[in-house]
Amino acid sequence: MTPQVQAPSPISLETHPGARVRLTDLDRQAWLDAALALEYPDYRDLDAWEQFRAAASARAPAALEAALEGFFSDATGNYLILENLPVDPFLPAAPLDGKRPAGKQAVSEAVIAGLIGTRAEIFSYANEKSGSPIHEVAPVAGLEQTQSNAGRTAMEFHTDGAFLPAHFRPQGLLLFGLLNIDTATFVLTADQVASAAPPDLLHGLKQPWYRHMPPASFSCAAAPKPGPIVWRAADGSTCVAAASSSIEPVNARAREALREFRALCAEAAPERIVIAPGTALLFRNDRVLHGRQAVRGARWLQRAYFTPSLAPFREATGSDPRAFCFDAPALLET
Ligand SMILES: [Fe+2]
Repeated sequence: MTPQVQAPSPISLETHPGARVRLTDLDRQAWLDAALALEYPDYRDLDAWEQFRAAASARAPAALEAALEGFFSDATGNYLILENLPVDPFLPAAPLDGKRPAGKQAVSEAVIAGLIGTRAEIFSYANEKSGSPIHEVAPVAGLEQTQSNAGRTAMEFHTDGAFLPAHFRPQGLLLFGLLNIDTATFVLTADQVASAAPPDLLHGLKQPWYRHMPPASFSCAAAPKPGPIVWRAADGSTCVAAASSSIEPVNARAREALREFRALCAEAAPERIVIAPGTALLFRNDRVLHGRQAVRGARWLQRAYFTPSLAPFREATGSDPRAFCFDAPALLET
């Protein structure tokens, strides 16, 4: 008997569970004035970094509190777009080496730390961006053709840190625009994928058949254990993981499911967000796939990873109780 092939349902724009909020000009100016009083610390000084975070949190405008509480308490969807936020008045040229330019004012970092505030913990991996808690996301000379935040090529739908055990991946990402003409970031929720996938495909994506490989920059001795691409969490939410570097299917059925998953994502109508200067996009990395158009012109974003608690990271690595930066291969091997 010939098996019936079910075509994926088109993914509808109406089902995007995100929110968009615009700060008033008055609130933006007040936040800018307050942020200009802050200096960016040497983040390797753990007390200085904590003081900066606290000061930035105290300066964030009350007008955004409801939107941020809704997002971080999981009440209002899997992503949040905030517009008209302050940007450094004297912005240096975008870095070509992936490093924060010396002499940059601390406005955007104060905005990022202020938005996350005490609602979650900002953290980093020692193997990426020198362990900096806030990453410079700009094309890096020599890496333009890589599938990474340092590249210019279009990035396929993926999640960050997929090679790690789920509890050591970033729960969420914040991307903040400093310089961006028209390069769009795409977000596609796990719910949208699950509702568009035919039952056989969804069943295949839920099996632990996929090895999410680490990016080349994370030289890990241990191979990641195979896991699913889509799964249902204990709270009923649909979760997703998909490495940006490569996904190795463990058998032929997995290979076919992965091919269909890629085709379904390519056909999808994701939310398209140009993270312009002063725009922040926050999203749940465990419930949303993200991707990006090819970068044609100048582009400079900053990025922070966040998670509800760093206690499991510190315990697994025997770290200082104030530590926010962890060795990814050590987390993989726990
Ligand atoms: Fe990413």
